[in-house]
Amino acid sequence: MERGWYIILGLMMLHYATLILTVHASKEACGVCECSDHGTRIDCSDRGLMELPKGIPNDTKVLNLAENALKEIRKHGFLDLPHLIVLDLTGNSIDKPFEIPESVMMLHARGNQLQDIDLVMKNGVQLKTVDFEDNRMTAIGRDTFARCTKLTNVNLRGNDVTSIEADAFKSCTKLRYLLLDKNKISTISAKELTAPKDMDTLGLAENKLKELGPDTFKGLQIREVWMDDNDVQVLKAHTFGGVISSIVLDNNRILEIPASLFVDPSNKQHRKEIERFYCQENRVNRVAIGAFQGVNRFNKLLMRNNRLTTLPEGLFDTKTEIGQLLIADNHLDFLPENILVNTTLTEVLDIGFNRLTSIPDGLFRNQTKLRTLFMQRNNISVITRGMFKDLHSLEVL
Ligand SMILES: *[C@@H]1O[C@H](CO)[C@@H](O)[C@H](O)[C@H]1NC(C)=O
Ligand SMILES: *[C@@H]1O[C@H](CO)[C@@H](O)[C@H](O)[C@H]1NC(C)=O
Ligand SMILES: *[C@@H]1O[C@H](CO)[C@@H](O)[C@H](O)[C@H]1NC(C)=O
Ligand SMILES: *[C@@H]1O[C@H](CO)[C@@H](O)[C@H](O)[C@H]1NC(C)=O
Repeated sequence: MERGWYIILGLMMLHYATLILTVHASKEACGVCECSDHGTRIDCSDRGLMELPKGIPNDTKVLNLAENALKEIRKHGFLDLPHLIVLDLTGNSIDKPFEIPESVMMLHARGNQLQDIDLVMKNGVQLKTVDFEDNRMTAIGRDTFARCTKLTNVNLRGNDVTSIEADAFKSCTKLRYLLLDKNKISTISAKELTAPKDMDTLGLAENKLKELGPDTFKGLQIREVWMDDNDVQVLKAHTFGGVISSIVLDNNRILEIPASLFVDPSNKQHRKEIERFYCQENRVNRVAIGAFQGVNRFNKLLMRNNRLTTLPEGLFDTKTEIGQLLIADNHLDFLPENILVNTTLTEVLDIGFNRLTSIPDGLFRNQTKLRTLFMQRNNISVITRGMFKDLHSLEVL
């Protein structure tokens, strides 16, 4: 009898001891970190951690490890957290690949030393957002994102990527933002970007792109493409014939704007609105007559700081509306009188900082909506009477 009691008592004590131990173990991380939402949200940011804290509760949903000194994640470190949804590793020194549980939907790993993310992405079947900005990746493999079918936001800015294998984003049919700015990519084509339908933003600024078109964006639907600060010299016809509506090409070395830039030969649709076409700080000395064929409206058409001496008379041959037409800082010495006859300017025309000695009489005819006109720093000596008579909306001259 007594012996039985002792055994029961002993078992109970053991039970309590293990209970206390497990409770203790499972909350250990909460001593170092701040735990909230019943221990499902753990904030371990900025605590000088050199390794993963022990005893992270296994029902953790949000784990913030940003701004520590982590170099390596011990094997299965995160795999013991089967409910993890948000993982933030921003600003550590992680250089070894690690695994994440399949539950993770947001992974922030900006500012680490990762070269290879294949292992990290392997379980990323629920991932919607990944941020690997400022790491050390050099290539994007064909299978890297193969299982990540739910991705909408991919940020790979500021790496050393030189190449993207064909079909690398083929499985990512929900992709909306693909940011590849500040890498070393020298060529890009629709092959690498296939599948993402209806993308919002493709960031390729600050790379080493040399040539664009004609098939670079073939069959893709992208709202904004950023390609400023590259080495593009040659732009080919049809390059932006897709449904791209905003193109930024500032600070390249483009020499010519070719004909049919916005025409897709496969679907001869000619109603297009271009939100932005920025081609500033290039070396453009010629715009082909049919360059803007098919476009009925530009919100912003910016070609400042190039080497244009004139623009062809039929450049805007069909009815076109332009919000801002900025061609300041060129070498314009002549503008055909009828260049704007079929065009309605609605906001700003800037032809300042050129070499114009005269303005053709009828240039501003019918521009009743234009509100701001800049013509400073030319060499205009005569302004004819009546030149501005139609500019009923002008506020700034
Ligand atoms: C979490 O840990 C507790 C205590 O160690 C355990 O009882 C439970 O089964 C674990 N849950 C999961 C999902 O692993
Ligand atoms: C303006 O449009 C008319 C009618 O479409 C066309 O005949 C003419 O060539 C155009 N003029 C210019 C300068 O583009
Ligand atoms: C342009 O103005 C002229 C008169 O200066 C007028 O005869 C012509 O119809 C106007 N054209 C348009 C397209 O408004
Ligand atoms: C402006 O015109 C005057 C007289 O026509 C000429 O002497 C001068 O060199 C011109 N300046 C520039 C910058 O072209």
